[in-house]
Amino acid sequence: MYDYKEVWKEKIAEALTQALKNSGADSGGAITPAQVTAEVPPNPDMGDIGFPMFGFAKLFRKAPPQIAALLAGQLPGTQALGPYLNVRLDRAETVRGILGALLSGSGSGRGLGRPDTLAGKKIMVEFSSPNTNKPLHLGHLRNDILGESISRILAACGADVRKVCIINDRGIHICKSMLAYKEQGQGKTPESEGVKSDRFVGDWYVAFSKALKEEAAALEEGGLDKKTAEARAPLMLRAQELLRQWESGDSETVALWKTMNEWAVRGMKQTYVRTGVSFDQYYYESQTYLLGKDEVLKGLERGIFFREADGAVAVDLSAEKLDKKILLRGDGTSIYITQDIGTAISRHKDWSFDRLIYVVGSEQQYHFKVLFTLLDKLGFPWAKNLYHLSYGMVNLPEGKMKSREGTVVDADDLIDSLREMALEEIRAKEREEAVGEPEAVAEKVALGALHYFLLQVSAAKDMLFDPKESLSFNGNTGPYLQYMGARISSLLQKALLQKALPQKADLSKANNGNGGEPRYELLSSDAEWELVKTLGGYNDAVASAAANMDPSVLTAYIYELAKAFSRFYHDCPILSAQDAELAQARLALCRGVLLVLQNALELVCIPFLEAM
Ligand code: ARG
Repeated sequence: MYDYKEVWKEKIAEALTQALKNSGADSGGAITPAQVTAEVPPNPDMGDIGFPMFGFAKLFRKAPPQIAALLAGQLPGTQALGPYLNVRLDRAETVRGILGALLSGSGSGRGLGRPDTLAGKKIMVEFSSPNTNKPLHLGHLRNDILGESISRILAACGADVRKVCIINDRGIHICKSMLAYKEQGQGKTPESEGVKSDRFVGDWYVAFSKALKEEAAALEEGGLDKKTAEARAPLMLRAQELLRQWESGDSETVALWKTMNEWAVRGMKQTYVRTGVSFDQYYYESQTYLLGKDEVLKGLERGIFFREADGAVAVDLSAEKLDKKILLRGDGTSIYITQDIGTAISRHKDWSFDRLIYVVGSEQQYHFKVLFTLLDKLGFPWAKNLYHLSYGMVNLPEGKMKSREGTVVDADDLIDSLREMALEEIRAKEREEAVGEPEAVAEKVALGALHYFLLQVSAAKDMLFDPKESLSFNGNTGPYLQYMGARISSLLQKALLQKALPQKADLSKANNGNGGEPRYELLSSDAEWELVKTLGGYNDAVASAAANMDPSVLTAYIYELAKAFSRFYHDCPILSAQDAELAQARLALCRGVLLVLQNALELVCIPFLEAM
């Protein structure tokens, strides 16, 4: 992709090198384009790019404004503004550069959305990581789409990305669903009940929670406080017994566990397929939960950890301004952090990543701080490259969508109701025939709405998911962007069919029929110029989303692109342009927008639609 900033960085680096030579200073080699930084001036009247000269003052032994003035005298198209060298781009040249590169016959869209800033890096991304006692819920949807999108963005920057998921398939929570099923549901299956298999498992978890509440309430009446009452409830004791049986390998318990986990995981995988999420590798806690123990014992031998009076192994993290932390219980069993130590080490053995990103909710911030500190203390050099991509809670507006437990809503239910709403809209607008397959289109609109809404807020913030707002066709939403894609597609389609164009020009191609390029320089109005410049900034947006590990940088870019396109579409007639060559150039611009839009939507997991 043509990058006008890079072009100018090169020009300026060269001019700086030359000026340094001329001044007779001991330059110590050439100034490289990478040393030159580019900014956008605060107001377009000041130029299109601004280059600060602060970084060169020492080398030149001159004040930045003097250096700017020096260069401005040598480089046509530039102007010194205080310590900045500002550049006013040559519109015709830049438009030709950007659109020419984007649409040139050989390999249309070459290098598009591929800034390659992470070439050669191995990055592992862990996300979703569900527990197998209930289906995925709204919080997972945010997690999943952050993980999937950031993985796609990092890969676009040239990284070798490995997406992994750990399925937390053991522990007391699973035993709760198992117990309820064992006592009340034997013989029933997801098939016999006609229920999606992960939902089937979740329903038993709900049944357990309800029954436990009743038992605990009775105990509370007898004078116990809530926590003690729940801990002493017979159901809880039986669930713990089931966990002991699982740990001792009791065959009947293990068989039930296998069956129910298979149901849970099968159902979740269907939801992943539905939402366009995938993994390169699954880890299962049941296979990894013993891994960390040895590492902790090794740390104990080396004096990094210590033993408590009751036999537990602990670590003192006061020097790191963290609390004391237990790593192995007195009875030798491991805890959450122990497992994470083991899993991280085995992952690095499996695939020696340069970086590992954990997409996990913000309530686990402290856990990951401790984990990273411990791995560092244990001497793993890669511990410095672990990163917690922490995200906030997602809530639904009060009363909008009822969930089964009153607090969370199942991912599938939410997508179903979004699809229903989208379908109603398609019917209300009598677009069923035009869109071809209304059901399939409604599903894609639903996913577009959901994913865009979730990604457009920066991850760290808590947010409110408003289903109705997410589906609005005019506003900063996924469907609005999908609609823009459909509108451009249909415009290009029309151009293809339209015979009676001015001078019968063939507008179906970007070239003018003589094999040459369209006359891009005709695109000289402000609306056209802004749109082309926005296209030219695409690779930068991708690189910046990757550097900040923040897909919202990209959603914001797409929205800017949509606004710039709207303005162009409003200001500039296309098919009805007076001049055939101008019409061609504008159609070519539309093709360029479509290419960038499709590429960008893919990175933020929004399905593209030809018609809607
Ligand atoms: N399953 C866990 C939960 O639901 C999240 C696991 C996060 N990943 C990790 N490596 N600790 O809270």
